[in-house]
Amino acid sequence: MPYILGIETSCDETAAAVVENGRHILSNIVNSQIDIHRLFGGVVPEVASRKHVENIGLVVEKAIAGSGLTMADLDAVAVTNRPGLIGALLVGLSFAKAFAYGLNIPLITVNHLYGHIYANIIEHPHIEFPAICLVVSGGHTSLLLMENESDYQLIGETLDDAAGEAFDKVARFLGLGYPGGPAIQKAAESGQPGRYSLPRVFLNRSDLDFSFSGLKTAVMNQWRKAQQRGEAHVNDMAAEFQRALVEVLVEKTMEAAKRYKAQSIIMSGGVAANSLLRELMMSRGQESGRPVYYPSLSLCTDNAVMIAGAAYPMFVQGRFAPLNVNAQASL
Ligand code: KG4
Ligand code: ZN
Repeated sequence: MPYILGIETSCDETAAAVVENGRHILSNIVNSQIDIHRLFGGVVPEVASRKHVENIGLVVEKAIAGSGLTMADLDAVAVTNRPGLIGALLVGLSFAKAFAYGLNIPLITVNHLYGHIYANIIEHPHIEFPAICLVVSGGHTSLLLMENESDYQLIGETLDDAAGEAFDKVARFLGLGYPGGPAIQKAAESGQPGRYSLPRVFLNRSDLDFSFSGLKTAVMNQWRKAQQRGEAHVNDMAAEFQRALVEVLVEKTMEAAKRYKAQSIIMSGGVAANSLLRELMMSRGQESGRPVYYPSLSLCTDNAVMIAGAAYPMFVQGRFAPLNVNAQASL
């Protein structure tokens, strides 16, 4: 106890999960729309909303059935209401409101980014604080100083593209498909970084902010020149791009950890699934004597377990949302 049903529809996954006590995962259903959006080379917001409407009932039904519970056993319904695609968010939020009203149980609204962070707390119950948390998703790239599980302060962020967005845009430009992160990672496996030379943007600055749009432009310029010379090797470009982006994420995170005397490092969001990022952060963390935590692959990308988990402390504190609460596209 308590049993919380989580619902997540902020982008292109329709997800529902039941989590007990904020930690024990009873079910985790994710219906991905990737195959549909791939046809368009990226997420089409209106298509995403429509697909959420089609799928949400079944996804929630499966999550409850898979948990071994019945609707009557649920103690609360938690839903992502910010940030995200507004139409997509509204589908999950409207469903959750009706569900909460129908069952006469509390509604809890969750910040999607806090959900990503909480994925770590579900899987690693003994994280040492203060911690530096790198949130890297399709829409966000931020560094947070976390004093404990729920108090955090923004200490750096991207001034333009998010890391995942850069992966997606570069993959699209190189013809590697959607979503870009896994496609670039795969191409890079058989490529050589260093054949092209891309900038490590902002590493020379003392602040903890990021910028990835210049890196994307550098890829485009060098790629066109390489094509003219007949020396365009897509796997090598993918490998250099991945390394240039990951090195900046790792070095800035390590700098933040040093500056704020952090005891540990946490990574979350879809880009935290990247194998080079995991590997480099882990080895730099070991060098500096700080443990590095990241969620298992299934909890890195969008899911509802992290939403049900993040709602648990709010449930305990009685922080419930009224039924007229709205969705917010941005924070
Ligand atoms: O957290 P997420 O599932 O959704 C958002 O909240 O945005 O993150 C999606 C992003 C996409 O940009 C995707 O390309 C990226 O995460 N991603 C990756 C990998 N897997 C997903 N980026 C790099 N390497 C990966 N293996
Ligand atoms: Zn996300």
